[in-house]
Amino acid sequence: MLDPGSATDRVADVLVADGVARIGSGDTFAGVDAQMVDIAGQLVVPGLVDLRTHLREPGEEHKETLQTGLRAAAAGGFTTVCAMPGTRPPNDSRAVTEMLVQRGAEVPGARLLPFAAITRGIQGRELTDMAELRDAGAVGVTDDRWPITDAGLLRRALEYADTFGLLLMQHCEEPALVRGALAHEGVVSTRLGLRGWPRQAEDAAVARDLRVAELTGARLHIAHVSSAGAVALIREAKAQGVRVTCDVTPHHLTYTDQAIATFDPMFRVVPPLREESDRQALLGGVRDGTLDVITTDHAPHHALAKECEFEEAAPGMAGLETALPLVLALVDAGDLPLDVAIAALSTRPAEILGRAQPLEGGGDVTVIDPAKRWRVEPARLRSKGKNTPLVGAEVAGAATWTLVGGRVVHTHEERHGA
Ligand code: DOR
Repeated sequence: MLDPGSATDRVADVLVADGVARIGSGDTFAGVDAQMVDIAGQLVVPGLVDLRTHLREPGEEHKETLQTGLRAAAAGGFTTVCAMPGTRPPNDSRAVTEMLVQRGAEVPGARLLPFAAITRGIQGRELTDMAELRDAGAVGVTDDRWPITDAGLLRRALEYADTFGLLLMQHCEEPALVRGALAHEGVVSTRLGLRGWPRQAEDAAVARDLRVAELTGARLHIAHVSSAGAVALIREAKAQGVRVTCDVTPHHLTYTDQAIATFDPMFRVVPPLREESDRQALLGGVRDGTLDVITTDHAPHHALAKECEFEEAAPGMAGLETALPLVLALVDAGDLPLDVAIAALSTRPAEILGRAQPLEGGGDVTVIDPAKRWRVEPARLRSKGKNTPLVGAEVAGAATWTLVGGRVVHTHEERHGA
């Protein structure tokens, strides 16, 4: 078992009964009437938590539904996911938040925690009624992949969100620098003739947002950090005592803009994949805790949205079911220590949501077999989104068991056969 919350890493027996896990060894559980599973060599960790998942319901059920998305989350080892509000209509109301909470509780799979919008209609002008959204069950607010560009509005939003105990998550981008941009601005985008999205568009927004957070004293969470400059700015702000946390995706930790050299639309993402120097800075940021969390940014799209020219493709990758193998490959390569990677996928996001639970006594548990090899076959993926560059690839590392509230919501065997 590996529990970053209590700094425990040891070989143990785990009993899950009455909704909670108990840890023992030797014959602690002798005589207990339970189903026995031999998971020697596997990792028992606190349930994985994704701070940034696009579930597409309501309104875009051809891409994903709560049913498919929450099942995909469980298959990826996630016991809790935060649903982004950029749906149709956007989640800027009590009605949508309540629907998500209610339907999320009915549907089998991971738990759903909704994020609501910061501004009405995600238009960046008028703040939503955060008190009402919090009462309806929202755990945070974000305008999803659209930034709040008005610094005065951001100031008020941060103050309100903090007052109501909501996490404010911001996508950092200076829109005037990224109009029509399709790829990271660099040698590759120039060679391909794609309009560039410079790092500075992210750095400038991060720098400003950190100062606004400093001004308010409120908590800010920066989503999907992708540039070396942003990592440095966040590191410095943390050292100065600014209340900031942030996340990075497995794809930004794994790939660079070299991946788009063949115009493969699967690699079109927002923010764009950057250069090796950025990727190294991101890995360094996870290692030293500057980047707190690894989020999937799961962005399921319909096949047609990727079976087209790079320029026409919808940005985003389906990520719930491939996050673990991608992160474990980084561990295997020596880029990330295992305990840091597991903390970034489980304990840290739970802490940021104010919902951290030690493994012992908690019921949300993920069992990971780092050596389990499996092929990413579209038909086996639980998500409707098959838009991952890993389709057809054999990967190592799987969630073999996912338990929510002590109940089994996924086994690898069930998805892949024994
Ligand atoms: O690439 C992305 N796609 N990044 C995001 O932040 C949003 C997402 C989407 O909704 O498709």
